[in-house]
Amino acid sequence: MAVYWRQDLIQIGIESIDQHHQQMLDLLGKFHSSFNTNLEEERFKMIIDFIDNHTVPTFKNEEQLMKKHHYPNFEEHQHEHRLFLDNYKELKKEFKKKGVNKQLFLTMYRTISQLLTEHISRADQSMGSYLKDRLA
Ligand SMILES: [Fe+2]
Ligand SMILES: [Fe+2]
Repeated sequence: MAVYWRQDLIQIGIESIDQHHQQMLDLLGKFHSSFNTNLEEERFKMIIDFIDNHTVPTFKNEEQLMKKHHYPNFEEHQHEHRLFLDNYKELKKEFKKKGVNKQLFLTMYRTISQLLTEHISRADQSMGSYLKDRLA
């Protein structure tokens, strides 16, 4: 089942961050559509690309902004980013152990979508309201 996200919870009102998030959620959508095919290797590449080329830079961008503007919950927020990436590493290890298979992809999709949308609609929203005042 696809994970749905509410636009109003996902939009935090800072353009560069919102664009990154939108790209990430679009990619997750594509990833979900790929379940109709049997291209396991392709899917594996998609998820690696998603994390390495989109998630890591997005986290970095947020962390730079928070640091620059002395966001009081910086460490807590950064910790959540790290936990997310640790979680991903665990899933990746499991892939290496068990090989690419649909069930694991589904677990990965669900875990990543849920963690990400939960993080964006809560932690990123608070960061956004703080930064909006400073960037105005
Ligand atoms: Fe974010
Ligand atoms: Fe974040």
